[in-house]
Amino acid sequence: MTMRAKLHELEELRRASQEGGGAERLARQHEKGKLSARERLDVLLDPGSFVELDRFVEHRCTDFGLEDQRYPGDGVVTGYGTIDGRIVYVFSQDFTVFGGSLSETHAEKIVKVLDNALKAGVPVIGLNDSGGARIQEGVVSLGGYADIFLRNTLASGVIPQVSAILGPCAGGAVYSPAITDFIFMVEGISHMFVTGPNVAKTVTHEDVSFDELGGAATHARTSGVAHFAYGDEVSALRGIRDLLGYLPANNSEVPPDVESVDPPKQAAEELLDIVPDQPNKPYDMHDVIGRIVDGGEFFEVHAEYARNLLVGFARLGGKAIGLVANQPAVLAGVLDIDASLKGARFVRFCDAFNIPIVTFEDVPGFLPGVSQEHGGIIKHGAKLLYAYCEATVPKLTVITRKAYGGAYDVMSSKHIRGDLNLAWPTAEIAVMGPKGAVEILYRKEIAAAKDPKEKTEELEREFRAKFANPYQAAARGYVDDVIDPRHTRQHLISGLEALANKRDLNPPKKHGNIPL
Ligand code: HXC
Repeated sequence: MTMRAKLHELEELRRASQEGGGAERLARQHEKGKLSARERLDVLLDPGSFVELDRFVEHRCTDFGLEDQRYPGDGVVTGYGTIDGRIVYVFSQDFTVFGGSLSETHAEKIVKVLDNALKAGVPVIGLNDSGGARIQEGVVSLGGYADIFLRNTLASGVIPQVSAILGPCAGGAVYSPAITDFIFMVEGISHMFVTGPNVAKTVTHEDVSFDELGGAATHARTSGVAHFAYGDEVSALRGIRDLLGYLPANNSEVPPDVESVDPPKQAAEELLDIVPDQPNKPYDMHDVIGRIVDGGEFFEVHAEYARNLLVGFARLGGKAIGLVANQPAVLAGVLDIDASLKGARFVRFCDAFNIPIVTFEDVPGFLPGVSQEHGGIIKHGAKLLYAYCEATVPKLTVITRKAYGGAYDVMSSKHIRGDLNLAWPTAEIAVMGPKGAVEILYRKEIAAAKDPKEKTEELEREFRAKFANPYQAAARGYVDDVIDPRHTRQHLISGLEALANKRDLNPPKKHGNIPL
C-alpha cells in the first residue's frame, strides 16, 4: 500500500472512531437533551485546541458476546486542550458506548490522562456520564475504578481536579468525582448516588425519584456533594472555564493575574449604609463583597448549600482571592455543621493552591442545640478551625460587625496566623453578645431588681459600651487597624501586595490528622 493509501485508511479509521455507539444511540442522547461526549469537549475547550489520545483503544472482554461489539475509544474520549490558552487534560465519557460504563481499557485511558496531568502539573477535568462498572467485565472493572481513585487522591492538592456530572452516575462513578475538588451538576440530566432508587426501595422501603435522591438540586442544596448546579450543560461547561480562570495550574504556581478594571483606591460610599445600626438586623454580605472586589464579580461556590456562610473566588487589584464570609442574612450568619464543612474544604483548597484567603466576619457564634451537638458540631466546627490554623497563604480578615466567642478565634483571627486583621468601627468583639453576657454575669442582681427587664437593659447598655466595639481588640494588636469601611478595598489590595511574597511553613509531617 502506498503512503497515500495508508493515509486514506487512517482517515477512515479516525472517522469511524468518532462515531461512538452509532447514530441511533446518539439520537437518543440528544433526545434526552444531552450533548455528546465530543460536543461537550467543543464547548469546554478553546476552539480547535483538543488533541485526542487513545482513539483506537478497544475493550478486551470476550464474555457475554462482547467479542463482536467493539467501539474504538471504548466509551471515553480522552486527551488535552486549552482553556483561555492554558493546558488542561480532559476525559469525556460517551454514554452511547455501553452506557459510558467503565471497562478495563476505559479505566486505563482515564488513568493515562490523570498520570499525564499530574506529571505536567496541569488541571484535569472529567466529564462523567456513566452507568458505573461495566457489568460484563466484573472485578477487572472494579480494579479500574480503584486505579482511578488512587490517582485522584495522589493528585489532590497538586493539580486542580474538576468533575462535571452530565448523566447518571452510580456506584463507582460517584467516588472519583467525590475525591476531586469541584463537582458541577445540571438540573434534569445529572444524577449521583451510591445506589439508585430501586435499591433504596428494596433495602429501606423508601419510594424516591431519581431527582429527589440524587439530582442537581438535592446535591447542591441538601447534601453539599455538588458545588455548582446549572440549568443546562453549556452553562455548566462555561462555568468550569470561569472557575479555571481563578486557579493556578498546580500547587507550585500562583493563580494568573488579570488586569483590574477598577482602580485600587476606589472608595465605596455605600459601604457606610449596609450594616444596620441595630445589631440584630440582618443584611446581605453579598452587598459588601460586591462593593469591594474587582468589577463586583463574586464567583460563588456552594451558593445554595449552607447559605449562612459564603465561599467563592473573586479578584482584588487583578489578583485571585478565595473569599469566606459569614452571611448575616441567613441564620444570622451563625456557624453550624454544614457551614463548617463548606468553609473548611474551601479554605484547604485555597491553601493548597496558593490562593490568598480574605475573610469577612459577622458571626454571632456556633449554633447551639441538640441536633447540632448530636450531629457533631464539635468535630465539624473543629475542621474549619483546623483548616484556618494550618493555612499558610496570606490571610486577611475584615470584621464588619459581630465576632463573638469561639467563632472569633476560628474566622482567621490574629491568634491563628491571620496576617492582616482589620475591623470596621461597627465591629463587636467579645466572648458573647451583651444579652447572654449580662444574664450570666448578673443573674442574682437581675433577679433581685425591682424591674428585672429594665435592669437587664441597663446592664446590656453598659456591656455594649465597654465590649461591643473593636477597640479592646485593637489595643492588644489583635486587630491591626480599625478602618473606614469605604476604603476596605484599598486596605485589602495594599495588604495583598505587602504579603505577595509571604513564606510560612508548618512543621514537617507526613500529614496532619484533621478531625474527620
Ligand atoms: C454495561 C451498561 C451499564 C453497565 C448501562 N449499560 N449500564 N453496560 N455495564 N454498568 C448499557 C445498557 O445495557 C444499554 O446498552 C446502554 O448502556 C444504555 O443503558 P440504558 O439502561 O438503556 O439507559 P437508561 O435507561 O438511560 O439507564 C441508564 C442507567 C442504567 C440508569 C445508568 O443503564 C443502569 O441502571 N445501569 C446500571 C447501573 C449500575 O448498577 N452500575 C454498576 C454500579 S456498581 P444498549 O446496548 O442497549 O445501548 C459499580 C461498582 C464500582 O459501579 C464500585 C467502586 C467503589
